[in-house]
Amino acid sequence: MKSFSKRIPHLGTENAFSVIGKAKEFEENILKPQGKKLIYLQIGEPSFDTPENINQAAIAAIKNNKTHYSPTPGIPELREAVAQSVSSYTKINYKKEDVVVTAGAKPIIFYLINALIDEGDEVIIPNPAFPIYGSVTEYLGGVVIPLQLKEENNFNLDLTELKNSITPKTKLIILNSPQNPTGAVFDEKIIREIAKVAIENDLWVLSDEIYNEIIHEGHHFSIASVDGMSERTVILNGVSKTFAMTGYRIGWGVTKNKEMTNTLERLACNDTSCPNSIAQYAALEAVTGGDATVKKMVSEYKTRRDLLLKLVAEIPGMKCHTPLGAFYLMVNVREIIDKLGITVETFCDNIMKEANVLILPGTVFGHYGEDFIRFSYVSSEENITEGMAQIKSYLASILK
Ligand SMILES: Cc1ncc(COP(=O)(O)O)c(C=O)c1O
Repeated sequence: MKSFSKRIPHLGTENAFSVIGKAKEFEENILKPQGKKLIYLQIGEPSFDTPENINQAAIAAIKNNKTHYSPTPGIPELREAVAQSVSSYTKINYKKEDVVVTAGAKPIIFYLINALIDEGDEVIIPNPAFPIYGSVTEYLGGVVIPLQLKEENNFNLDLTELKNSITPKTKLIILNSPQNPTGAVFDEKIIREIAKVAIENDLWVLSDEIYNEIIHEGHHFSIASVDGMSERTVILNGVSKTFAMTGYRIGWGVTKNKEMTNTLERLACNDTSCPNSIAQYAALEAVTGGDATVKKMVSEYKTRRDLLLKLVAEIPGMKCHTPLGAFYLMVNVREIIDKLGITVETFCDNIMKEANVLILPGTVFGHYGEDFIRFSYVSSEENITEGMAQIKSYLASILK
């Protein structure tokens, strides 16, 4: 058989998905027969049901036969609503023409890197970070320049290191705030400095703002708001996290750069033709239907965050900073894994098998995650309490 393309071995994956498959098998074949269950504290998706008004909008779309192709960049009503929503928090006057709606937010990463990166071009990517940025860059022959997000800086980007990593081949900086996996919300001051660097060096910015509504302290500031940035920035966002709509698969890219919207649209046309029509009507209801349920969900995440922080502090050897946004907590377990003489991957595997709790090793998000485990606090308070008690008692038994 003739070989696969040379690109394919460079394509990574999102291990958070493959870990689930392995864990479900373990739960089904090993735990269930013993009357036990696995507690999932790894998953990056809201545990809440999608709000009823949104589901009803999807049902109405089906009943009204909104079941055909839509324009490639999305239905005009949704593009207009997104433009208004992004304008309101960036103070940039976005129009519907500046919005490309896609099948989930993830395609914006794929399309944007496709649009910009030739073999050998460099992309500056914080590390640890959402793994798809690096995977797509390397798949396309680009070079990932990792920028370590350090715990002592509250996982904010280090400006000196950013400046030092720029070369004539640098084309794109990827930012994500609030950040997955650290929960960091980048300081406005730092974002303004990053913008200066981007302008001085004529760089593009992908600003992944998928968690912008999930803020517990501080405030979200978009780099697109800085003078001169809206033409060189593509904002990525969508309904998945804010409205508990991961399975609807609706996201968008927003930019004042016309050539970029045209290119994103052309890539989308070659890929999916258009986003799902029914889901777009549901997303329209989400964006225009008021923020009462979102506020309730965010307030519940904060309660869960505080509970998790308290329980982590009770486990000897675990250290963490307070995440300001998103729904993730990175916990430094270096002291524990050194004592045990194991890697963080083996540690997480053991926690699954012996404490029956699923968490992710920080290395899923890059090399600089090697001291950390990532918890997600979307799960119920009951699950968090039970899971942490199981981890605590397992660690007490092996670290005597
Ligand atoms: C930082 C980040 N960006 C983008 C996405 C993708 O969002 P979507 O599910 O809408 O494709 C995720 C999902 O986990 C994420 O964590």
